[in-house]
Amino acid sequence: MSTHIGAEPGQIAPTVLLPGDPYRARWAAETFLEGAELVNDVRGMLGFTGTWKGHRVTIQGSGMGMPSLSIYVNELIRDYGAETLIRIGSCGGMQEKVKVRDVILAMTASSISTPSRGIMKEINFAPAADWGLLQAAARAAESREVGLHIGGIYSSDTFYDERPDLNEQMVRHGILAVEMEAAELYTLAARHAKRALAVLTVSDHLQTGEALPASERERSFGDMVEIALEAAFE
Ligand code: HPA
Repeated sequence: MSTHIGAEPGQIAPTVLLPGDPYRARWAAETFLEGAELVNDVRGMLGFTGTWKGHRVTIQGSGMGMPSLSIYVNELIRDYGAETLIRIGSCGGMQEKVKVRDVILAMTASSISTPSRGIMKEINFAPAADWGLLQAAARAAESREVGLHIGGIYSSDTFYDERPDLNEQMVRHGILAVEMEAAELYTLAARHAKRALAVLTVSDHLQTGEALPASERERSFGDMVEIALEAAFE
């Protein structure tokens, strides 16, 4: 086991899907994987390993925000040999053309800081998705009936935002949506030469105030999980 993951070596698959919510990890594992087994419950941050179309997959909760995700991704890479890491999560739409229920593939993730800021110092590093994964996810998304957007997102440190001017600049620069994890995922993947992508469902919209009703969340999140799995194994 590692510091925050209780799995034995070998219990984590090389391909890991990372929802923020541990209960969504359980739902996705029970819905999409065969033979899913609980491999981590340290701090209630559930992780499951099973197979999808014969491929081993782990679905591990990352928690909310970059410091939490950073802990899990560091340990998944260093202690368990994770090679492909795909965040599956929700985001807030920032452009008019982005609608609730749409799927966003995050090509880049801007931020004002990440846990990696300390080593980047004066560099404004540009966290970017793995191109092969992004292409494969685009193909998987285009073959289903979802509104699809591919472009830059904003990884914020706050959900309750006291700096509306930052959001304004993001909107002005064409950023599609806001969430709280992808920039650090992409930075860690770059550092360790791993593949990473964030596949996101628009759960709410900053300008219109529209929000996905709870009853529809499952269906929309299902598209996102299937896109992530198809991209991982294309
Ligand atoms: N802000 C930050 N993260 C989010 C949001 C939001 O509005 N919606 C879903 N994740």
